[in-house]
Amino acid sequence: MAPKYTISIVMLFLQSQLLILFKSGAADYIPPAKSDGFGYKTHSINLDSILIEVFYDPLCPDSRDSWPPLKKTLHHYGHQVSLVVHLLPLPYHDNAFVASRALHIVNGLNTSATYPLLEWFFENQDKFYNAATRNLTRASIVEEIVKSATEVVGKSYHSSIKNGFNDTHTDHLTRISFKYAASRGVYGTPFFYVNGFLLPDNGAAVDYNAWRKVLDPLVGAKKGVKNEESLHSMVEMDSSSVLEM
Ligand SMILES: *[C@@H]1O[C@H](CO)[C@@H](O)[C@H](O)[C@H]1NC(C)=O
Ligand SMILES: *[C@@H]1O[C@H](CO)[C@@H](O)[C@H](O)[C@H]1NC(C)=O
Ligand SMILES: *[C@@H]1O[C@H](CO)[C@@H](O)[C@H](O)[C@H]1NC(C)=O
Repeated sequence: MAPKYTISIVMLFLQSQLLILFKSGAADYIPPAKSDGFGYKTHSINLDSILIEVFYDPLCPDSRDSWPPLKKTLHHYGHQVSLVVHLLPLPYHDNAFVASRALHIVNGLNTSATYPLLEWFFENQDKFYNAATRNLTRASIVEEIVKSATEVVGKSYHSSIKNGFNDTHTDHLTRISFKYAASRGVYGTPFFYVNGFLLPDNGAAVDYNAWRKVLDPLVGAKKGVKNEESLHSMVEMDSSSVLEM
């Protein structure tokens, strides 16, 4: 009899520990209600397309340099390739978390404005580098970012963006981005995944030709499979090659 009681007591103890675990801070927003990431020119991911996931820090020069060739690549392949950008605010870029939070705030106000703001950060990174902001207060940096984001997104958004920095939800979304990157083992930016697998030459800004070398065979392989399917998918294929031009 005694061992049985012991087991029950241990079980009870474990249950109470689990309950404490779930009630503690992190579990309030992990797992999140919505998957992390900003879809490029789409609100949902087409499971039939090739998925590129990229981890960016809006204040990272290598992330900035990799974006134009990636954007060109996306325009080349059209709907055959989807992109999701995840943010990883790097701790050694002093203002990366605030910049990333601005992107979450703006994404919540107008999804279409997210990428324009990301591009704005890429073009104006040097304003927010560590040395350039050494003597500035955090409040003044937030103020500057609110002002700039308003210019990109539209005057009518000024108070919403400002209030966004006072809303713990946007703080949580930015933390989720960080935690998501950590959970995928991402430790720098940019990191690229294609259909869930890490691209071998990480860290380097992948150029347009390198992207074509990665994606052409995948798009070709998909078309091969489609050819063997039905006439219906042949029609789809035709329309996709029209879009490519
Ligand atoms: C959302 O942002 C896009 C891109 O900046 C802009 O064209 C559009 O007018 C905005 N929509 C609203 C409702 O402000
Ligand atoms: C920051 O302040 C120090 C001390 O006043 C000054 O020497 C330095 O040039 C300032 N840096 C910037 C980026 O303004
Ligand atoms: C943020 O909220 C605090 C407390 O509710 C308030 O005192 C402060 O003025 C708010 N700041 C902004 C920028 O709205």
